[in-house]
Amino acid sequence: FNVPVPKNEPVKSYAPNSPERAALKAALVEARSRQIEIPMYIGGEEIMTEDKHAVTPPHDHQYVLGYYSLGDASHVTKAIEAALAARENWANLSWEHRAAIFLKAADLLAGPYRAEINAATMLGQSKNAYQAEIDAACEMIDFLRFNVHYASQIYGEQPQSSEGVWNRLEHRPLEGFVFALTPFNFTAIAGNLPTSAALMGNVCVWKPALTQVYAANVLMKVFKEAGVPDGVINLIYVDGPVAGDVILRHPDFAGIHFTGSTKVFQYIWKTIGDNLSIYKSFPRIVGETGGKDFVVAHSSANAKAVAVGLVRGAFEYQGQKCSAASRAYIPANLWEEVKGYMIADLASMKMGVTEDFSNFINAVIDEKSFDKIAGYIDNAKNDPRVTVIAGGNYDKSTGYFIEPTVLLTTDPMYTTMCEEIFGPVLTIYVYEPEKFEETLELVDKTSPYALTGSIFAQDRYVIEQASKKLVNAAGNFYINDKPTGAVVGQQPFGGARASGTNDKAGSILNLLRWVSPRTIKETF
Ligand code: SER
Repeated sequence: FNVPVPKNEPVKSYAPNSPERAALKAALVEARSRQIEIPMYIGGEEIMTEDKHAVTPPHDHQYVLGYYSLGDASHVTKAIEAALAARENWANLSWEHRAAIFLKAADLLAGPYRAEINAATMLGQSKNAYQAEIDAACEMIDFLRFNVHYASQIYGEQPQSSEGVWNRLEHRPLEGFVFALTPFNFTAIAGNLPTSAALMGNVCVWKPALTQVYAANVLMKVFKEAGVPDGVINLIYVDGPVAGDVILRHPDFAGIHFTGSTKVFQYIWKTIGDNLSIYKSFPRIVGETGGKDFVVAHSSANAKAVAVGLVRGAFEYQGQKCSAASRAYIPANLWEEVKGYMIADLASMKMGVTEDFSNFINAVIDEKSFDKIAGYIDNAKNDPRVTVIAGGNYDKSTGYFIEPTVLLTTDPMYTTMCEEIFGPVLTIYVYEPEKFEETLELVDKTSPYALTGSIFAQDRYVIEQASKKLVNAAGNFYINDKPTGAVVGQQPFGGARASGTNDKAGSILNLLRWVSPRTIKETF
């Protein structure tokens, strides 16, 4: 049977005096009122180590929210053993019972845990309330519910039979365990990577970014309360190379579900290649990596729509989205108008701590990120090819704050037009309108990535021209909209080239990677 298509979880407004804002404020105060110990979850055990690390809000880095226990190689091994011990029961459980657990998790997040998961994402990852809501609440809930719908389609799909012959497909999970390696920037992605594989009957070792531990801990509590059995998802905090060393050299390693940098993904892929002979099966490699996402405006575009798309696309969550607009190509006839709207829009955006609901811009994730982004800005300030149009200042004294920065360059191959910065920096190149076709070529060739991109135009012929010319330049292509904010069930998300394997998160394509079907032919 098929589970009907769910509705997307409605996004709450958090308007002043709304009940959701009151609940969220209370959760923020509550979180700040205590310092928690954050354990690893391996099998049925909560594990602490002596190696404690402080969790601090990126926007208030002297304030300790709690301590997580850093593990070592022995914890990775233990997590693999716990996963393998849980495998048989989990793989044999009817899929409806696995699905029920994840539907319950979605309901827990939609109701009793909504404020807590959003507060944890605001404090631990420095998201504003709205960005937390669309991520940690709505997108996470949507992943869980839509994946159940897609799983039902997969399990319902059966081959043709004929008189005297009954053909069947058994959608078995992979033989072994799945490694979920998850990023800091989306709580929903962190939660989706282990749960999507687990829904299809797999057992997982989940290693989140160590900058996302605070919200990962809340997700894990929800998964446990929803009924995920011990050992099915094992959450460990270890350094990436420590986890990789043990996991990628284990014979039962059956697949990786990854979101992170291209460089790390390339390393993982190569390591898997080097170890192929020790695995039981060819591991599934599913990864979403970097982006250098473009916005191209045509001279027929609406200047205000372009400006809004740029500001939102580039600076939501401080530009720390793999989908963020980070390079833009604007025709000279529109530039002054676009610039005017952008500057006005940016002037209305306050920067500061997340707990003050009026701040749109918060801090970047950590000092390493801050220094890297500030370095790009400093270089740009000193380069004759670049003019700073907006922002350009930064300050890490209390939190890792960087102003939304707009750079204008005369060189379309300038560093910040080509390299992924993962921060609030947008670079603009102004082209002569008659060079639209050459500009499309430039867009296609400038970066090795192909995650998201937008065309702004009113002329339908131009929209088609851009769509065709940029056919491989973006896995998610937007017409007259910003290139961020894909919604589960509406815009399946992912890109190719250096941006990953394009297995579209939140879609049937992704879930198909987590089954290894057996075909059975029975003759009567
Ligand atoms: N899915 C997010 C977006 O579309 C990025 O991971 O912005």
